[in-house]
Amino acid sequence: MKKYIAGNWKMHKTKAEAVELAKGLVEALKDGNHRYLIAPSFTALDAVSAVVKGSNIRLGAQNMSTDEQGAHTGEVSVLQLKDLGVETVILGHSERRHTYGETDEMINKKVKLALSHNLEVILCVGELLEEREAGKATAVCEQQIQDGLAGLSADDMKNVVIAYEPVWAIGTGKTATPEDADAMHKAIRAKLESLYNESVAKETTIQYGGSMKPANAAQLLAMPNIDGGLIGGAALKIDTFSAIGRFDK
Ligand code: PGA
Repeated sequence: MKKYIAGNWKMHKTKAEAVELAKGLVEALKDGNHRYLIAPSFTALDAVSAVVKGSNIRLGAQNMSTDEQGAHTGEVSVLQLKDLGVETVILGHSERRHTYGETDEMINKKVKLALSHNLEVILCVGELLEEREAGKATAVCEQQIQDGLAGLSADDMKNVVIAYEPVWAIGTGKTATPEDADAMHKAIRAKLESLYNESVAKETTIQYGGSMKPANAAQLLAMPNIDGGLIGGAALKIDTFSAIGRFDK
């Protein structure tokens, strides 16, 4: 089965470094079996767009404004992303939620705006450590799904990917066990079934994110409900990201 392997480069790489990494990945993944995406910083999107054009790697952005255009100093709009060839936008990343105060309401506004411009959305959800320890992990993720997807139709869901990223696993080297991650993905599918229907629950791609690396990718990706990965640290090097992208070769 085709998995969806996405790299979130976060606030790393100058333009020249981004181009070098993108070129290396185009070469390393050209005969890969899976779907691939890289999401550089806004500053490198234009240059990386030219590199991945015509390859099997999609271009993603890491965030987007809630508004289409206007007086929003420092923000980047959907129109500007589309203009650079961006096909996908990551929304609701936990760093946006917890460091920059993005609410489910803002994230939902961004999701709707992105879809209305035919961008694919990767909607990130995930619980904090204290929420997991309090037994609230599933409820937190279900609420983020419900609020993030408010107002979307089953048809809209064709362009939505969910990334389950437990916050305690991001950038910490601590990975959810394949069983724990799969259990949450299963709960997310159940939530999608209750919000939509069985086919949306089955067809929606659900990625796992949080310290995925070459050493654990194959085990995580072997789980029945894990359809891909959203990778941070291990996405910053050609060898580690391509090893994940070719985990079954
Ligand atoms: P990580 O980041 O792989 O460095 O844990 C994942 C993410 O935040 O998307």
